[in-house]
Amino acid sequence: MLSGITGSVEPDIAPDTFEVIGRILKARSGFTLDGYKDKCVKRRIHIRVRATHSPSPEAYGELLTQSTAEQDHLLRVLTIHVSHFFRNPTVFAKLGEEILPQLLDERERLRALSVGCAGGEEPYTLALLMKDRFANAVAAGRVSIVGVDVDNAILEQAREGLYHPDRLAEVPPGIRERCFAPEGGRYRLCDEIRGQVLFEHADLNHRQGWDPCELILCRNVLIYFERERQETILNGFADALSPGGYLVLGKAETLFGTARKRFRTICPVERIYRAL
Ligand SMILES: C[S@@+](CC[C@H](N)C(=O)[O-])C[C@H]1O[C@@H](n2cnc3c(N)ncnc32)[C@H](O)[C@@H]1O
Repeated sequence: MLSGITGSVEPDIAPDTFEVIGRILKARSGFTLDGYKDKCVKRRIHIRVRATHSPSPEAYGELLTQSTAEQDHLLRVLTIHVSHFFRNPTVFAKLGEEILPQLLDERERLRALSVGCAGGEEPYTLALLMKDRFANAVAAGRVSIVGVDVDNAILEQAREGLYHPDRLAEVPPGIRERCFAPEGGRYRLCDEIRGQVLFEHADLNHRQGWDPCELILCRNVLIYFERERQETILNGFADALSPGGYLVLGKAETLFGTARKRFRTICPVERIYRAL
């Protein structure tokens, strides 16, 4: 069987090879391919087949058994980390103008979770917004922000808080000046904001439950998962959110199946939902 990828035709990955690759990755890092869309995973494996000049997926499988460096390469390609500060700025405008003030009005505490937080750009954006608009609530210790991701290396980068200028393109100029300092061609996020976000490892394929919270951002992560897994993940979010808490998905993501009954759509354009 052949599958077309961006105009080229690439050999399908035989089930045996696919299984071997899955087993190697699991042994290396505990990462499982189970809930991901096969198509997405195979497309990414092909990227490494080409990059390593392997003549076939089977040959690439052999290479993978021998090279831990390649195992780490493949893991990085599979857990793509594209992100930037204030990604989709209109979502953060809506959060800053409506959702966060409402939550802070109604609740004593605002516990936010950024799931699939990559290099920290998303939870830090929330922290920057909170400092900019709701400094009193932050100073009073009413706000906590946790970022989680499956990739420990990217979490380490998140804690460091050092970014290529590209990642800052959508940061409002005032915030940029106040909270980032140039450092060797990159930008370091200030200690105050870094100190506001806690980073933890979590794998959406295995995670059973989340600590209670009022706001969950899970953007551009669900798209990589099978529908059934997405539904399980979304129901997990509904369990964690206190009634009236908010969920924000990515622009290409939406609620599925049973999870739809657990949320009310607040803003379809920005993919903002409220837990019932
Ligand atoms: C495209 S980035 C999204 C970053 C950010 N949420 C945004 O929208 O800018 C996807 C992130 O999901 C993480 N991810 C992928 N599979 C995951 C899993 N099973 N559990 C937790 N995070 C996962 C990846 O490591 C990556 O950092």
